[in-house]
Amino acid sequence: MCKIIIDCDPGIDDALAIMLAVNSPELEIVAITTVSGNVPSDMGAVNAKKVLKQLNRLDIPVYIGEDAPLREEYIDARDTHGMDGLGESFLPEVSSGCEKQSAVDFLTEILEKEKISIIALGPMTNLAKVFSKKPHLIRNVEELVSMGGNFRSHGNCSPVAEYNYWCDPDAAAIVYDLFEKEGNIIHMIGLDVTREIVLTPNRLEYMCRLDKENGEFIRKITGFYMDFHWEQEGIIGCVINDPLAVAYFIDRSMCSGFDSFTAVATDGICRGQTVVDSMDFWKKEPNSRILTETDPEKFFRFFMERVLKKEDGS
Ligand code: BDR
Ligand code: CA
Repeated sequence: MCKIIIDCDPGIDDALAIMLAVNSPELEIVAITTVSGNVPSDMGAVNAKKVLKQLNRLDIPVYIGEDAPLREEYIDARDTHGMDGLGESFLPEVSSGCEKQSAVDFLTEILEKEKISIIALGPMTNLAKVFSKKPHLIRNVEELVSMGGNFRSHGNCSPVAEYNYWCDPDAAAIVYDLFEKEGNIIHMIGLDVTREIVLTPNRLEYMCRLDKENGEFIRKITGFYMDFHWEQEGIIGCVINDPLAVAYFIDRSMCSGFDSFTAVATDGICRGQTVVDSMDFWKKEPNSRILTETDPEKFFRFFMERVLKKEDGS
């Protein structure tokens, strides 16, 4: 089993990613840490708990992370994810609380003790705080898979930028920069691949037929997200970015791409843009694996086999 921490901002697609991770026997989820992104970090923690309750896994600890980007004004994504961050499903709150220690302290402490992998599904504020203070801890990051950025694809909150990196561009820039300095690699699951992962009404309907409980839970939290995609982009269904990062973490054949040096723009009209040196102009060591191809059918088979319970309860 592979020990992981999920750093996230639940968030509808974060919730689906948690569902996939929890139902994957290859992973031992040591903790979930939250960061302000789709919703403020404390609300994200409450949402993580709601998802864990649905999965009967309230034993997984949840740590609340940074409440604002390093420098930029915090702009959430509740227009996309609903006022409660879970598609205005307004699920009942869970009584058991979150851990007292902050996410940044927790991450620092555990990385000081052992090698661990991180799946980052929100802005990189927590990670930037940890690594800018103690860059050597990057050597204890077994693997970092980050949902964020874009290479050939257009952005989703500016012409050139993806939300997680746009929300806290300084954090993303710091983490990419430090990974280069410490000789480690960030696996970048960006919009090039995630925009292909569309949960269509057909797929959802089938999920509900296969598993009433988890299927209906997914239906409850994705309706708002589907409406948003239809109104904003004319897409029937919704793009679910974050679970692809989990699927790729477990099965590398889920996406393919190339290694490159990547920097993140922090200011002006390019704020949050990933500048991928695919032609090696800068002659720098790669600090990223840029994933550019995926297979949506394969992903959905993988997702459904794991997240949906069979009739015998397995
Ligand atoms: C990313 O931003 C958030 O809105 C989603 O949860 C995902 O992590 C996609 O740009
Ligand atoms: Ca997210």
